[in-house]
Amino acid sequence: MPERIDQLRTEAEADLAAVTDAGSLEQFRIKYLGSKGALKTLMAALKEVPKEQKAAFGQGANALKQSIQQAFDDKRASLDGGGAAASAASGTSPQSKGTTNLDITEPGLPPRLGRTHIITQTIDELIDVFGRMGFDVATGPEVEDEHHNFVALNIPSDHPARDPHDNFYVKGGKQGDLHLLRSQTSTIQIRVMEKTKPPVRVVAMGRVYRPDEIDATHMPMFHQVEGLYVDRNVSMADLKTTLIQFAHAMFGPEADVRLRPSFFPFTEPSAELEVKIDLHGTGDWQWMEIGGCGMVDPAVFEAVGYDPEEWTGFAFGLGIERLAMRKYGIGDIRWLYENDVRFLRQF
Ligand code: DAH
Repeated sequence: MPERIDQLRTEAEADLAAVTDAGSLEQFRIKYLGSKGALKTLMAALKEVPKEQKAAFGQGANALKQSIQQAFDDKRASLDGGGAAASAASGTSPQSKGTTNLDITEPGLPPRLGRTHIITQTIDELIDVFGRMGFDVATGPEVEDEHHNFVALNIPSDHPARDPHDNFYVKGGKQGDLHLLRSQTSTIQIRVMEKTKPPVRVVAMGRVYRPDEIDATHMPMFHQVEGLYVDRNVSMADLKTTLIQFAHAMFGPEADVRLRPSFFPFTEPSAELEVKIDLHGTGDWQWMEIGGCGMVDPAVFEAVGYDPEEWTGFAFGLGIERLAMRKYGIGDIRWLYENDVRFLRQF
């Protein structure tokens, strides 16, 4: 009978040496350690062993079972490799069934990293550029009342800018207390001056809404950056110097700035701001209109309780999409809002 144990040991060793993958390892397990395997049969044979040999046979069979189990575990660990082997041995992973192996040398899937949207990047850059010139950041609500969007900005009730076709008025609210999605970030100038004593130096970035037809340069929602500087003896020269600094920081030291006479109800005098930039770095220098600016109208100071005899100031409002499109050579505003990662991940 002990020969039978030795024979089984020799056979198992040979079989295990031939195991090279999970499939053959599983066959080995079934053959020797399975519920109808060779070791079960060997144990069942204990009955037939003469009484005086029973103890020795039982010990030998148990020792064989343990050594085969150990050799099997070692083999599985060496096939699985590292971490998987540990969990496989504790029976917590699917690998412990011996059907799959983890090949840690196989190339992995690169993680998909997110990134900041081009508009957010531009806003961060603007905060940085104006921050270095001493401007704080202010915010205001996107649903505004008529007072902040028009009245305090010196836009009279018969002004075409208040036309329902040019604004998103919202339902609700009391009579005479009309609200709308703000059509300009100039609203934030009023909100800041209402609660701060001069001098004031702030920029404010945010979404604005106008019912425009969607095309390559228009969206019903876009972003503006608003600037406001109030102090004693502020002049148009301060405005232009600030805008030149901004243009250089944003578009490089060769960019130039010019102001064309214009009209806005809340500034006097008013100007359109144009920046001369090298379009897409091609040597094709062009003047681009990027927003409006001017000296704060005394009527606006009066509306917020500042003394126009004492305080002076400049303001500007620029389109952020326009800035980003000029800077990065983006030809269609819609691409910014289609959320196609193939486009967005280029920036
Ligand atoms: N709010 C104006 C617009 O949306 C832009 C603007 C012009 C803002 C002149 C200003 C300014 O602060 O001084 O068209």
